Amino acid sequence: MGNTVVVGLQWGDEGKGKVTDLLAQRADVVVRYQGGNNAGHTVVVGGRTLKLHLVPSGILHPGVLCLMGDGMVVDPLVLCREIDELEANGVSTGQLRISGNAHLIMPYHIRMDEAQERARGASKIGTTQRGIGPAYCDKTARLPHSIRAWDLLDSQRLTERAAAQLELKNRCFTHLLDAEPMTLEEVVEPILAVAPRLTDRIVDGRTVLYERLDAGASVLFEGAQGTFLDLNHGTYPYVTSSHPIAAEACVSAGLGPGAIDRVIGVAKAYTTRVGAGVFVTEQDNEYGNTIRERGHEYGTTTGRPRRCGWLDCVVLRTAARINGAHAIALTLLDVLDAFDTVPVCVAYELDGRTLEYVPSNQDDLVRCRPVYEELPGWQQPIGGCRTWDDLPAAARAYVERLGQLAGTPVGLVGVGADREQTIILPALG
Ligand code: IMP
Repeated sequence: MGNTVVVGLQWGDEGKGKVTDLLAQRADVVVRYQGGNNAGHTVVVGGRTLKLHLVPSGILHPGVLCLMGDGMVVDPLVLCREIDELEANGVSTGQLRISGNAHLIMPYHIRMDEAQERARGASKIGTTQRGIGPAYCDKTARLPHSIRAWDLLDSQRLTERAAAQLELKNRCFTHLLDAEPMTLEEVVEPILAVAPRLTDRIVDGRTVLYERLDAGASVLFEGAQGTFLDLNHGTYPYVTSSHPIAAEACVSAGLGPGAIDRVIGVAKAYTTRVGAGVFVTEQDNEYGNTIRERGHEYGTTTGRPRRCGWLDCVVLRTAARINGAHAIALTLLDVLDAFDTVPVCVAYELDGRTLEYVPSNQDDLVRCRPVYEELPGWQQPIGGCRTWDDLPAAARAYVERLGQLAGTPVGLVGVGADREQTIILPALG
């Protein structure tokens, strides 16, 4: 099937786990290319719900090599808990590998995340408080003592590096952030306790990938979060600290853009976001509440209620361009079964002008107003539909219209959480 990137077109939580799990059936390798355990990928198999935060969603397929790429940040304690949970549920993790260049989230990063959010006061981002931003900060600061997965192989080096880092962090905690300092023991001991469980999995990710590709493997690249949480292209500063967009798959894996055969953009049939930041089609009302309850829109990682709103095709059109999406995988269409009409945002209005794309200047974006087109609802359950023709005409019209508006054909429609509740269309290839 060639090399495919699965990327979120909105603000994360689009259902990438389900799509990756589906496509992984035809892949030899799955690479998760960025983010950390801020992500929560829910996959439902045979009625059983599994929540993945770090491990690539391909893990449910025996024989598929699952690589955590250079662009990830990895909390070793969370990773070990996740491995235990998978194994307890009968899922083998024998094929899981960690790229040695991935940076580690250390306990002081989590404290830093909490303290920085407190310090931001009313303008807090609403981070997942998993230490993601501070870990990426240390990576880009290029400190000699930054800690990568390789360092799990040498406990003395890891301890020395952690001590040097902690000295800086403790100065920050006590002098700038009004937070409690940490001891070296509380930072290092838990990590050293789990290190032996991970050492066999640490590899030179790039070379492993080259060897597999040379042997003819198909690789699936799994993004976390979504396009509008991207550090460059998202709704800055209300974004994550990595690059969820498709191009990062190459950066993280060590491949050129020519290595990618197709990009599948995953979008919900409506829009959600968690945390603070602009949201043009937000419905902070009964409509939004209905979407939240029907879609179980509560964070997989933090349990926070997600903000809900109508589908924003300006967001989809822009994201399709940013990622070079060949097809859209549309998830959770069944959530809209309840509505008699379903508005979709077709353009933005700003100072009397009509905008087709999301403006990158945030001062403009916050002033944009949605222009809606009202589409008829179908008002019947579609969870049992398995083919395009099974779908009610109004649901088909909704899918076709959003494909037109996004300038990208829809290749998959999800009508429920289970693997089987999926309609595959020709555009998926
Ligand atoms: P961080 O990634 O924890 O630093 O959080 C930064 C922003 O990204 C916050 O608004 C989070 O709610 C959001 N975010 C991070 N990961 C996800 C995700 O997997 N889904 C949805 N939102 C996320």
